[in-house]
Amino acid sequence: MPKTLLLATTNPGKIREFKRLFEGSGIELLTPDREVEVEEKGCSFLENAYIKAETYHRASGIPTLADDSGLVVPALNGYPGIYSSRFYLIEFGGVEAVKESKDKANIDKLLRLMQGVEDRRAYFYACLVVYLGEAGLWAEGRCDGIVLYQPRGEGGFGYDPILQPDGYDRSMAELSPQEKDMVSHRGKAVRKLIKLIKMLE
Ligand code: IMP
Repeated sequence: MPKTLLLATTNPGKIREFKRLFEGSGIELLTPDREVEVEEKGCSFLENAYIKAETYHRASGIPTLADDSGLVVPALNGYPGIYSSRFYLIEFGGVEAVKESKDKANIDKLLRLMQGVEDRRAYFYACLVVYLGEAGLWAEGRCDGIVLYQPRGEGGFGYDPILQPDGYDRSMAELSPQEKDMVSHRGKAVRKLIKLIKMLE
């Protein structure tokens, strides 16, 4: 079983969450000292997670863990989906100007497209791939909820202020880090992945 994994991301929100989720697992997470350019040309979360893991593994030679994740809104034909991080940029629904941050531009665009849409169901999805060279592992997690009409809360990152998980009356950004880890797509996927990693010799 690998005792150390390189985390194939420079996203501070993801790094914070992975560090918390792996605490006490006996697996140490290393973070990249520089961003490696990855062409996310896959058609699915799994394909993109694999491409990231394989690219960082090629650059480092270390067993690598990658996450591809996003928010899926059925009423928008599954968008932002695999385009979640750069939704503001893509043509679907028109390009959104970045005024404060990319996260805010993504949220503004989504709320604009959801104006007058009654079906507010959505889910966060995360696909994790561990690339070991000769073999690999993967796990997925999903967190269902509804898209709020206004952003709420300061915690988390990305679309957290506008997704209210089922069973809660607060947005993901209003949950404590521990509450988010319990319910989140990433929390669910990491718990499955750790079990799989521990089954390796
Ligand atoms: P990736 O880095 O290509 O996997 O893009 C992930 C994007 O999905 C992020 O930049 C966020 O916009 C969104 N996302 C993924 N996970 C979360 C989450 O836990 N909360 C909020 N947004 C998320």
